[in-house]
Amino acid sequence: MNSKNYYITTPIYYPSDKLHIGHAYCTVATDCLARYRRLQGYNVMFLTGTDEHGQKIENKAKEAGITPKEFVDRIVEGKRGVKDLWKLMNISNDRFIRTTDEYHEKSIQKLFHKMYDKGDIYKGTYKGKYCTPCESFWTESQLVNGKCPDCGRDVVDAEEEAYFFRASKYADRVRKLLTETDFLEPASRVNEMVNNFIDCEGGLQDLCVSRTSFTWGVPVDFDPKHVVYVWFDALFNYITALGYDNDEYDDYEKFWPGVNIVGKEIVRFHSIYWPAFLMSLDLPVPKKVFGHGWLMIDGGKMSKSRGNVVDPYILSELFGVDALRFFLMRTFPFGSDGNFTNELLIQTINSDLANDLGNLVSRTTAMVMKYFDGVLPAGCSGYAAREACDEDLISMSSALRDKYEKAMDGYAPHDALTEVFRVIQRANKYIDETAPWVLAKDMDANGSRLAFVLYNLLESARICGVLLTPFIPSSCDKLFDYIGTSSDIRTWDSAAEWGSLPESVKVEKGENLFPRIDEEKMLNELEEIEQNLKKDAGGSGNEVTVDPFLEEKVDFDTFCRNDLRVVKVKACEAVKKSDKLLRFTLDDGTGQDRQILSGIHKWYEPETLVGKTLVAIVNLPPRKMMGLESNGMLLSAVHYENGEETLSLVMPGDDIPAGSRLC
Ligand code: MSP
Repeated sequence: MNSKNYYITTPIYYPSDKLHIGHAYCTVATDCLARYRRLQGYNVMFLTGTDEHGQKIENKAKEAGITPKEFVDRIVEGKRGVKDLWKLMNISNDRFIRTTDEYHEKSIQKLFHKMYDKGDIYKGTYKGKYCTPCESFWTESQLVNGKCPDCGRDVVDAEEEAYFFRASKYADRVRKLLTETDFLEPASRVNEMVNNFIDCEGGLQDLCVSRTSFTWGVPVDFDPKHVVYVWFDALFNYITALGYDNDEYDDYEKFWPGVNIVGKEIVRFHSIYWPAFLMSLDLPVPKKVFGHGWLMIDGGKMSKSRGNVVDPYILSELFGVDALRFFLMRTFPFGSDGNFTNELLIQTINSDLANDLGNLVSRTTAMVMKYFDGVLPAGCSGYAAREACDEDLISMSSALRDKYEKAMDGYAPHDALTEVFRVIQRANKYIDETAPWVLAKDMDANGSRLAFVLYNLLESARICGVLLTPFIPSSCDKLFDYIGTSSDIRTWDSAAEWGSLPESVKVEKGENLFPRIDEEKMLNELEEIEQNLKKDAGGSGNEVTVDPFLEEKVDFDTFCRNDLRVVKVKACEAVKKSDKLLRFTLDDGTGQDRQILSGIHKWYEPETLVGKTLVAIVNLPPRKMMGLESNGMLLSAVHYENGEETLSLVMPGDDIPAGSRLC
């Protein structure tokens, strides 16, 4: 790859349902990184797309009474579908791949065949759990409380013939890649991958790459009762979309290897199986796999039922695309999880965009208009009697690009924004320190200092504007128009060159870039939207149900024998090799730690639960799970969305002391 070519990708999304703000987070982040490289002068290829095969989509289409292709077409190409959403959010992807694109399907067949001929794909038996009514195969770890994750019914042991990829053959090379290079970031994810999936008991497992229990997939050309299993089909999108093994495009040599940005839960596929597939074909592995964190709601996974609007379409329309993009990038450190709330969204827009950036631009342009009719006098930037605050603002603005670059290169867009906002805040303070309205009282004596001060403010705003362009592109265009910045000084080079703004620019007073949001009014509006969405969902088959009430009566004494206590979470971690279990260390008020294991991982990430107040039944007999003892059970509320179980931990007020009995 030529050093001036740069390739970056998002994961390809499952079009099994509408995308939510978590998916938008991943795409916006990748878009900001792509725009950043373009700003630096790279020739960028930015790819996104949809992962359209598989049993889930086949089942959903069946439910909807349409073909799988019709189903995915609606979600991807339809009104307010995936493509519309990315357009609305100003996503600058150069290409969009659908795994149902004919060129991709043909390439997948060829790649599968090549790896089979090489002996890296072989036929074996896939053992799993089968849900007869859903006609679905599941792995042990996909089950929820031992039942089918789709319908909640019992499953039975079953086997089917399948092809496997000999991942084990590449275990040493993949381990080396992970431990001796910075292929996978954040580095904190490396140990988890190596310990849990390569150096675990039994070593790296071969991967099942074909299925016979459903048909919605790419048929294996030499054994067509098999379809290629989704991850093989999906991961190769990153190179088929460049034209690898097909004639649709001719960009493979130019752009591969590239950077794969993915969410943390699919790091395993991207950092282990994906490089192993490429090694099998003797192709270069990605330059980087970056696993970002998750957006959560109330510490739990995104869900329409958690009392927050999560539809990025609605949020973009309500708050503005740039404000939403900015919030996502500014608030959540890229490698970690973050908690999404409406309040935080509004507060970030108000404090950073309306107060800090918006005010800087509107105050500065208003003063240039008021005191100099929109054009500063010639020679103003050369004012000699500089004060400490002038030097401070100029040196901070001049040094900004380097700091920003370091953060962006380290996949820390949130840090890059922190640096930019340091300068914006410094500039606002500079207005207070220099008090231009006082200088303006005596233009003869202070006119040239006033012009110098305003020039410094315009120039700082310009530099910040250039560096904010990848994040809030449309607003930066407006900002540049207000302060008369022509295209040659909206560039990466000019962001490191203090004084690039000609003194003669014509400034205009435009509308406020980011009007302040009335928090209370907006929260009420969101609440109303939420209620309407719930009503609509009820009407369109998005069913929320709860368990039937029990007929059998229980006497009061029996009920009282349940010792239910308020507990506080001191520590919480995932149990190794279990997809479901979390291990809680709890303060139950006795002074001794209590350990409880709970199968709640599907709905909560462990780190978000530390410090929470929960309810446990503490007089159940101890029970061993995965070799660990559990002393009690945490209480959760259960409901079902379209038959899918959702657990929410019961959280009483944090002011209730540990050990309090529930009665
Ligand atoms: N189809 C696979 C990816 C195949 S890539 C070869 C897939 N699709 S997905 O639609 O389920 O998820 C796509 C991406 O969205 C993942 O990177 C995932 O982490 C991201 N997100 C989904 N929910 C998210 C949040 N709540 N927060 C942040 N990102 C999340 O997996």
